[in-house]
Amino acid sequence: MRFRRGDFPEGFVFGTATSAYQIEGSALGGAGPCHWDTFSATPGNVVRAEDGARACEHLTRWPEDLNLVRDGNFDAYRFSVNWARVLPEGRGAVNAAGLDFYDRLVDGMLERGLQPWLTLYHWDMPSDLAMRGGWTNPDVAGWFTDYARLVMGRLGDRLTTTATINEPWCVAWLSHFLGVHAPGLRDIRAAAHAMHHVLLAHGTALQALRADGHQGLGVVLNMEVCTPASDAPEDIAAAATQDAIFNRWFLQAITQATYPAEALEGLAPHLPRGWQGQMEQIAQPLDWLGLNYYTRRFHEAAPGQPWPASREVPGSGPKTGSGWEIHPEGLEQFLLRARDSVGDLPIHVTETGMAWPDRLVDGSVSDTERIAFLDAHLAAAGRALKAGVNLRGFFCWSLLDNYEWAEGYDKRFGLVHVDSDTLSRRPKASYLALADALTRSS
Ligand code: GCO
Repeated sequence: MRFRRGDFPEGFVFGTATSAYQIEGSALGGAGPCHWDTFSATPGNVVRAEDGARACEHLTRWPEDLNLVRDGNFDAYRFSVNWARVLPEGRGAVNAAGLDFYDRLVDGMLERGLQPWLTLYHWDMPSDLAMRGGWTNPDVAGWFTDYARLVMGRLGDRLTTTATINEPWCVAWLSHFLGVHAPGLRDIRAAAHAMHHVLLAHGTALQALRADGHQGLGVVLNMEVCTPASDAPEDIAAAATQDAIFNRWFLQAITQATYPAEALEGLAPHLPRGWQGQMEQIAQPLDWLGLNYYTRRFHEAAPGQPWPASREVPGSGPKTGSGWEIHPEGLEQFLLRARDSVGDLPIHVTETGMAWPDRLVDGSVSDTERIAFLDAHLAAAGRALKAGVNLRGFFCWSLLDNYEWAEGYDKRFGLVHVDSDTLSRRPKASYLALADALTRSS
């Protein structure tokens, strides 16, 4: 690894991230079902129809996992609460064992000198609420706020930061328009409702949490470079529309209380009645912004198709094990764009990382590709810092090989290898390189 901790300002936060459904084991500990349990049980949705029932058994192995975060010389651990573990039906009766688990987990971080960074929603919509329409139902803002207040009432006194929602684009567009993630809808009206309600839930919860006296509140947005496949004006327009849907919709709503015109062109007829009157509610002041960044994609016009009348075309650059182009410059570009929107508000890179078909050979994994990837993205973050972005932290996705959603367990994103059968953990070369680079000079 070329970078060292000392290349970054004093107090810069280095961390690693996970999410509840991807690692805990949703069948353990009295959690209720969530929409990923049933989406994965439906043929054709998930590679090998795998689910998060067992995952990495983090629910019982968490002390070992927190030791790994500590021993990797990270400062912070970004984790999420499974909504259905705390409220098995999404609202109403509380699973006390669920809340107790997160309580112990947070104390476990503090005992190890790790900052707890909580995400309230990382995609585990409880099934009872999913059956009531989930993100398409306007009541979701209230359901989510009640859940958020419950969790924060228990954990909020010990957290460093709290994010409402992880990646609203995935929650809304990927899951209700592209149909790739649960609930697997491909319907523009459902998508438009989810695009708005996910933001309304964010704003409503954020306002309530602030009124309850909580601090360090933010949101985590993912951004992806949308590049025109050619110089043709229609391809340029196609990429601009994708950029509006992916990268501007959420940030512009939160910072300016408006939606981008290129996205409204297709979505306005399908938005919930009265959406205009809810924009101020969405645009709550933040304490920080989180940015997740992985790749860029190329788009071309698809004449004759309904809006957004575009399709993705493969690029020729180097790819990760997910087939995602490796394009570190995009991270720098989005950090600069974020600064243009949020000014001097603290920004954190809350996720970046890559899948690779890692193999355990003689007890070790030599993931030199991942080391190069992280080095390049840390360098991009460093350039953004030099350009004056108020960047305060950088989190690697992910601590462990885990449940990669529709890809099942096929795609390994971990700094730590997890054996598919025994679930035993083994640090990869990337973990060891980071631990070395992050050594604190005493
Ligand atoms: C994300 C997700 C993770 C994914 C990762 C790789 O927030 O997109 O937090 O759940 O596993 O992005 O696809």
